[in-house]
Amino acid sequence: MTASVPEGAPAGRHDKVAVVSGGSRGLGRLLVERLLADGWRVGTFSRGVNEFITKTAESHPEAFFWEAANLGDPDTMTGFTRAVQNRFGRTDLLVNSAGVLHQELFLTTRPDRIRSLVTDNLISPMTLAHACARAMSRGGVGGQIVNVSSINAIRGYRGVSAYAGAKAGLDGFTRSLARELGPLNIRVNSIVPGFFDSDMTSEVTSTNRDRIKRRTPLGRLGDAAEVVDAVVFLISPQASFITGQSLVIDGGITC
Ligand SMILES: NC(=O)c1ccc[n+]([C@@H]2O[C@H](COP(=O)([O-])OP(=O)(O)OC[C@H]3O[C@@H](n4cnc5c(N)ncnc54)[C@H](OP(=O)(O)O)[C@@H]3O)[C@@H](O)[C@H]2O)c1
Repeated sequence: MTASVPEGAPAGRHDKVAVVSGGSRGLGRLLVERLLADGWRVGTFSRGVNEFITKTAESHPEAFFWEAANLGDPDTMTGFTRAVQNRFGRTDLLVNSAGVLHQELFLTTRPDRIRSLVTDNLISPMTLAHACARAMSRGGVGGQIVNVSSINAIRGYRGVSAYAGAKAGLDGFTRSLARELGPLNIRVNSIVPGFFDSDMTSEVTSTNRDRIKRRTPLGRLGDAAEVVDAVVFLISPQASFITGQSLVIDGGITC
């Protein structure tokens, strides 16, 4: 690590800037809270505003920025990144957290639904990475990208083929992008969570939850805070020689 400011550390309150996709709920919201607490300035988007966004904008008027954007329209990713640059003047970290899960057998899934799952879970995260990495390279001190994948990328599960294909694409993208951006001191990694409680998994039946627990060596579902801890580790100085890797956080269900 050659930058004079330790990456991920508050270099002075409200210095470094993180872009987090999908910061209104679930994992993205926890990431926003953690990064703000750690002294980052944070720009995030979701399709709609909610109470968390309104309250955070009030409590962190200088360090928090939110704007509506939709993964389904990749052009809004570029516009959002530009808005963060205009507001904060730099970009040091991108966490591609937002994702969209739709469960349906592949043969009955409409082609436009397949395309939208790939756009939401792969094309838009790539578009965000493109815009943020260009901003990081202009900053001249490097940066970091963390892509949120899923164990669906590394194990087969019925009913999630399109989502799984997009997430596996994100892991492949992570590895090759790390090779291109390493010389610019930009580290690129992905995290690969197993099941954790969020709105996305609220419809998992109790039977399926019990099955997941039984198959998980640690005997339980994950907690989103444990996934946040893994992101915080990957962006910390303790991970300064880690790039191009996918870190699985799943209680051992895929081991
Ligand atoms: N939960 C799990 O068990 C699990 C397991 C493995 C991987 N993951 C991955 O972890 C990440 C976070 O998942 P989560 O469970 O925290 O999700 P979540 O609770 O459903 O939250 C998703 C966030 O993304 C935003 N979002 C959703 N669709 C969007 C769109 N089309 N355009 C813009 N923003 C959108 C949501 O806000 P709006 O709805 O207001 O737009 C929300 O802020 C995802 O990438 C997911 O694939 C989750």
